Amino acid sequence: MTVPRHLAVIMDGNGRWAERRRRPRAIGHRAGARAVNVCIDFCLERGIDALTLFAFSSENWGRPEEEVGALMKLFLGALDREVDELHRRGVRVRFIGERERFAADIHQRMQAAEALTAGNTRLHLNIAASYGGRQDIAQAARALAADALAGRLRVEDIDESALDARISLADLPAPDLFIRTGGDHRISNFLLWQLAYTELWFTDVLWPDLDADLLQRALDDYARRERRFGLTSAQVAGGATENLPA
Ligand code: FPP
Repeated sequence: MTVPRHLAVIMDGNGRWAERRRRPRAIGHRAGARAVNVCIDFCLERGIDALTLFAFSSENWGRPEEEVGALMKLFLGALDREVDELHRRGVRVRFIGERERFAADIHQRMQAAEALTAGNTRLHLNIAASYGGRQDIAQAARALAADALAGRLRVEDIDESALDARISLADLPAPDLFIRTGGDHRISNFLLWQLAYTELWFTDVLWPDLDADLLQRALDDYARRERRFGLTSAQVAGGATENLPA
């Protein structure tokens, strides 16, 4: 069975999960944090190499102050509580997005978590925080422009692979499978560049209700799909996609 090497997840539905129970939305996010652990455990058990979670979008800063505050408290708590255990289990933790927008205490813990776990290889856990896919492409374009201006790169050498090398998670294969919980069928400015050939899987299940059976359903569905990368079925059967860049 084909297991995805890299799983990308939009964890949607925390707010509705809480509202259905007539509880504050922050309670839904807390339940969502427990589901994050379910997802990490699943990836470790199944031998998935990389997991990228959309924890907080660039747009989420616009939510009510109380909800943003509760999420920040949750991130800080999770960083304090979980990082040592993740390290013990061989997980490398990294953050993508505009980390400088976070308060100093969170920012510092992000750096510390990355430094502590930098040598781990069992699972690459990437947390997208204050992340936007368009902003990611823009920062890669800025890096290309800076290299060109400094004479390190010729304009005619600016191509897909040059941008690919400067986008977030450049050292990992692109996500094979994208999962979004919560019933909406959209990408919501998540890894726009990296998801170009990713298989998409959507479920109405709200994120806090996530369990291993649901993730296994997504993996089973993924294993049944034929990834053609723009080629024909006959070419895929003949092995033509085997050496495509990740
Ligand atoms: C989307 O649900 C979820 C978020 C904006 C936050 C995601 C955060 C967590 C899962 C908690 C902790 C994460 C880590 C990495 C420790 P929503 O609020 O948009 O739900 P709704 O669509 O039902 O309103």
